[in-house]
Amino acid sequence: MNKAFEKVIIVTGGAGFIGSHVVRYLLKKYSTYQIINIDKLTYAGNLENLKDVSDHENYKFEKIDIVDAEALRAVFKKYEVTDVIHLAAESHVDRSIEGPMEFVLTNVVGTVNLLQVAKDFWAGGENHVFHHVSTDEVFGSLGTEGLFTEETSYDPRSPYSASKASSDHFARAFFHTYNFPIKMSNCSNNYGSHHFPEKLIPLMIHNIQNNKSLPVYGKGDNIRDWLWVEDHATAIDAIFHRGRIGESYNVGGLNEWTNIKLVKFLCQLMDNKLNRISGSSEKLISFVGDRAGHDKRYAIDASKLERELGWKPSITFEEGLEKTVDWYLENQDWVEKVTSGEYQKYYQKMYTER
Ligand code: NAD
Ligand code: DAU
Repeated sequence: MNKAFEKVIIVTGGAGFIGSHVVRYLLKKYSTYQIINIDKLTYAGNLENLKDVSDHENYKFEKIDIVDAEALRAVFKKYEVTDVIHLAAESHVDRSIEGPMEFVLTNVVGTVNLLQVAKDFWAGGENHVFHHVSTDEVFGSLGTEGLFTEETSYDPRSPYSASKASSDHFARAFFHTYNFPIKMSNCSNNYGSHHFPEKLIPLMIHNIQNNKSLPVYGKGDNIRDWLWVEDHATAIDAIFHRGRIGESYNVGGLNEWTNIKLVKFLCQLMDNKLNRISGSSEKLISFVGDRAGHDKRYAIDASKLERELGWKPSITFEEGLEKTVDWYLENQDWVEKVTSGEYQKYYQKMYTER
């Protein structure tokens, strides 16, 4: 056991959207922890996301593909890793429809690799935690009524959610078969700073600012349940430290919006911020072809998390969206950096040919 730190935690996918918030949050809150960020740095991973903490004495970065078991073993040994918070994944549904194999490799094979390496390294040890971070999309699609609970049957419908569901099943299988110390969380749609601008909210902010068309899939009546990314980080903190081994916890803020209502709200907010005539950004809305197999509605019941661990979201959607818009307007250089190169080709294909 590494004596210098109380815990040595691998955070996978720490250079991505949610992972970077989790790394930052843990470094600020726990001065006795060492945080090892393992990330392959795909198009979605960017060390810019962590530049404010990159010199922190308790932070280390290792550029590793989680599919590479040997590299993982070396890192566990090098740092004497005590815990894992696993976020690394291919995360974009539209990309999974274009090509599922990368999702199988990272989300399924990579997760099983990580589970296996941690299990071997911790063999016989106690007090370790492997927190597997997952999504509400594993539960499928809701009609107009009801919420996803921890007991809802799995019914993944996109290649992305099928790969995440598979990784969840492997995590649970490791708990049941090997008594491996799994904790799991399934969260609804996150939003906030450092969100890659291929996802709905940052894409719309970017396009409104640049007077580009706003591609709304289908009729815009699909519903998502939005949560401030920093509230997801506090939920992970609570579950990682105080959640029960072998249990999963749903994370969400009871905050359902149709896509079209959300896009119109952003247009209004940005008309104000950019001193535009009210209603002018809405004219950019363009209804485009629907996403294949588009899940109609997601909505999370997070009452178990609130009841058992006392977790609650900290801010309203309106407050969070305003902070998010402000961050994007102040960090145009970040947007330009992450959307240059490969992303441009993808963007052309996905959004101008639809
Ligand atoms: P993201 O795409 O922004 O970041 C993913 C990170 O994983 C990137 O830094 C990327 O470089 C890294 N990565 C990808 N493949 C890798 C590999 N083979 N080896 C090592 N690193 C690799 O994703 P996100 O939105 O931050 O999501 C993080 C996790 O949270 C995912 O597991 C996702 O399924 C889950 N989740 C996301 C949301 C959401 O709304 N974004 C909601 C619930 C759950
Ligand atoms: O629910 C959690 C999931 O939320 C996470 O597991 C995923 O990693 C994350 O990407 C997110 O998935 P969604 O598919 O819900 O997010 P996305 O931002 O891609 O789309 C949100 C909604 O907006 C969805 O109904 C599709 C629609 N949409 C999306 C884009 C990118 C549009 O109408 N236009 C767009 O241009």
